[in-house]
Amino acid sequence: MYVHVDRDTWAANEGKRPFGFTHGLTGDCRLTHEAIVKLSDRIPISHVEMNNSDLPTLFPTDDVPELDRSPGEIVEQVIELRRWLALSNLEVDSEMKALIDECLDPIDEMLGDFQGGITGREGYIFIAPPGATTPAHLDFEHNFLLQIQGTKRVTVGFVDPELEARTLESMTGTGYGRLPELPKQTEEFMLKPGDGIYISPRLAHTIDTIGDDLSVSFSLVFHTPWLERGAKVHAANHDLRRLGLKPAPYGSSDRGDKFKAGAVTIWRAAKSKITS
Ligand SMILES: [Fe+2]
Repeated sequence: MYVHVDRDTWAANEGKRPFGFTHGLTGDCRLTHEAIVKLSDRIPISHVEMNNSDLPTLFPTDDVPELDRSPGEIVEQVIELRRWLALSNLEVDSEMKALIDECLDPIDEMLGDFQGGITGREGYIFIAPPGATTPAHLDFEHNFLLQIQGTKRVTVGFVDPELEARTLESMTGTGYGRLPELPKQTEEFMLKPGDGIYISPRLAHTIDTIGDDLSVSFSLVFHTPWLERGAKVHAANHDLRRLGLKPAPYGSSDRGDKFKAGAVTIWRAAKSKITS
């Protein structure tokens, strides 16, 4: 078992609160610097995102610069170039899919029917030079973030519910939502190689690379039917808000959520028939 999370720790936090844990992936041959250079040139280019590492903690835009050299070259020169690199949806690569499954199979078994069970599994690698900052944002999914090399400070907290709702609606169920203000009631987790943090959906966070070493992190992400329904409710709320209405946020009415998610399912099915 690579991710050392026991049933009691998970149950105590209910998939809602962050907690630290340890893992056994430090030194794994699939996550060495050399292996990541090869991986970054092997996966589709659309799965590689690069950004400048010297971003402010508040940077509420998803705009990213275009790649100006091969991903492998950037990974090799991350420190000199002052770049930050994310390799996303690594489950498309057979070697990485095997690693993601090795890590998440035991978690899947432990979670049982939590939120309807684990559906989609994803893997991400983040490479950042010393001093790099990932600006304040929300993610949509459950995330086990594992530190492989270097040190990271992960600051987690909450934002105003209205801002949280608007941010989630703007994401329409995918990607991450940049925040225009810093999270409140924050808690800090310092991650060294072998450490990890569980980041629950909707938890605002910022990440800083600490010390003089390159930071390499491996992120194991999973979806559930509850989250998928939430994505549809956020999409419905996004449209309702554009009509000038003030929709109830996801989770405040089971009946309302079912209706909105059903309407979005029907609309998307009809739209795909019209456009196919
Ligand atoms: Fe994140």
